[in-house]
Amino acid sequence: MLVLLDQTRLPAEEVELVCTDASALVEAIRSLAVRGAPLLGIAGAYGVALAAARGFDVDAAAESLAGARPTAVNLALGVRRAQGAYRGELTRSGSVQAAAGAALAAARELHAEDAEASARMAGRGLALLDELLPGGGHRVLTHCNTGALVSGGEGTAFAVALAAHRAGRLRRLWVDETRPLLQGARLTAYEAARSGMAYTLLADNAAGSLFAAGEVDAVLIGADRIAADGSVANKVGSYPLAVLARYHHVPFIVVAPLTTVDLATPDGASVEVEQRPGFEVTEIAAPSAAGAAGEAGGGVPVAPLGTQAYNPAFDVTPPELVTAIVTEEGTVSPVTAEALAELCGGSRRM
Ligand code: MRU
Repeated sequence: MLVLLDQTRLPAEEVELVCTDASALVEAIRSLAVRGAPLLGIAGAYGVALAAARGFDVDAAAESLAGARPTAVNLALGVRRAQGAYRGELTRSGSVQAAAGAALAAARELHAEDAEASARMAGRGLALLDELLPGGGHRVLTHCNTGALVSGGEGTAFAVALAAHRAGRLRRLWVDETRPLLQGARLTAYEAARSGMAYTLLADNAAGSLFAAGEVDAVLIGADRIAADGSVANKVGSYPLAVLARYHHVPFIVVAPLTTVDLATPDGASVEVEQRPGFEVTEIAAPSAAGAAGEAGGGVPVAPLGTQAYNPAFDVTPPELVTAIVTEEGTVSPVTAEALAELCGGSRRM
């Protein structure tokens, strides 16, 4: 079985969610009980290992897991990696048991690699912050949730803020609440509080006045998919922050593992952006119902019955608005297709 921390219940409750088969994991992924690009990859790989260990059809499980959410490239990558290990071992030894072991080993390896990548991104990201903001005392704005909850280690963008905090150079973490599912309020604030960081939560639409007041030194966000041209797909609301950051001459920094760079997606327009159910906007979700599938989520209505909602889960920031992309292997700035391709060349392990 696969045991997950149910992120839909945070911060009120720390509840484990037990998945005994791949279809339960698919549901956990769709409902955002498990979420965030790197963790989706790790969970997907473990899901394949689970299907293999339980003697289910591994290819069918891999298909449904890989398609559970379309935007975060890490999900399909993690699934395919464990599936590849399973198939490879099955071909070599003919043993279903050994093949299941190979799938599990691949999932564990991915998990460990992500932890290592996270630590290296944190170091590189902090070095970049210090270079861009030599005065220290960084006031950083972040969006969505990018910490240990989404990673084998301490995360992506949040890990950089955490490194700055530990080095005594984080003056404040501004946390966007991240409507409609409140990953910032529920999850990033939870992680910031546990880490003892100085943090302040704001409604997403308060960011403009915060920039105008000169209170933001840098924006740090993660990514769900980075296209070959450097376009960055991330939680909806990231693009408006990039526009604000450019207007106010504030660095907009994306922190993501190399596995999130997808050279097979040529540009931002080619990224499939997940569209979520309208009730996530027309209702304030009860925590356990956040993201549940269906016509209504069982939350408290905040709009007249029958109201239509526009609810893309992600948006795409063009490369010209991104100051730098920080990965475990290096930092790209300015962000160009050539520089990204060079960084990816040879170092891709998945
Ligand atoms: O819909 P979610 O909560 O899975 O979206 C997550 C994000 O957008 C994160 O910013 C992204 O996955 C980067 S996580 C390191």
